[in-house]
Amino acid sequence: MELYEAIRKRKTTRDWQNKDVDIKTIKRIVDAGLKAPTHNHMREWEFIVLHTSEEKTKALKFIKEGVEQFKKENSFDSWPDKTIEQKMYKYAVPRQYDMLFNASYIIIPLFKGNSLKAESVDQLNAFASIWCVIENMLLATTAEGLGYSISVPIGKEGKNVCKELGVPDDYIMPVYIGIGYPDDNAPDMDQYKYSADEKIHFGKW
Ligand SMILES: Cc1cc2nc3c(=O)[nH]c(=O)nc-3n(C[C@H](O)[C@H](O)[C@H](O)COP(=O)(O)O)c2cc1C
Repeated sequence: MELYEAIRKRKTTRDWQNKDVDIKTIKRIVDAGLKAPTHNHMREWEFIVLHTSEEKTKALKFIKEGVEQFKKENSFDSWPDKTIEQKMYKYAVPRQYDMLFNASYIIIPLFKGNSLKAESVDQLNAFASIWCVIENMLLATTAEGLGYSISVPIGKEGKNVCKELGVPDDYIMPVYIGIGYPDDNAPDMDQYKYSADEKIHFGKW
């Protein structure tokens, strides 16, 4: 798939076909991630790949607890769904666990770093680099004709997952990425769309 087509087609998927992805495809997607720019020339990135139900259950137990607690405290049916973002939240929030567990594979990228505290953007370079990795992977996933879901761990969740999976203390988990074949019936959620003409400020704001 041509790059601009992949950029246009990329979207988040939260419902899956029950169909396995080939591990060779997962490796190509990780390889695409490893081609991302790196702030310190080191590419200090690692990837945990989860496939079996046991592996997923172990890694996802913290997000499962969080989602179950959230479901107890919130009645999604009464959530407003007037605006694009309200519709998105109402659809996406109850699916945070299933959209990962039901994906064929889950990839957990990891980057080397001890702290996310920063007073200027350069101090966030390691975090910025891993998001370059992630975006490469999302576009590669799209170019493979597959879909992906992403979820950012909340609070201590990322640290808990890392501990559970034996990740060294100096690595941080930015996100879970579920990869699979999108369900043909998955809804096409509206998004705000802009063109460059609406967003460019020539010379000054
Ligand atoms: C930094 C970041 C964090 C995100 N976190 C989540 C998340 O925790 N759960 C989720 O379902 N989607 C998450 N998303 C996906 C967004 O909801 C999605 O990108 C947005 O609704 C736009 O839709 P699109 O990706 O289909 O264009 C995240 C996206 C980004 C860039």
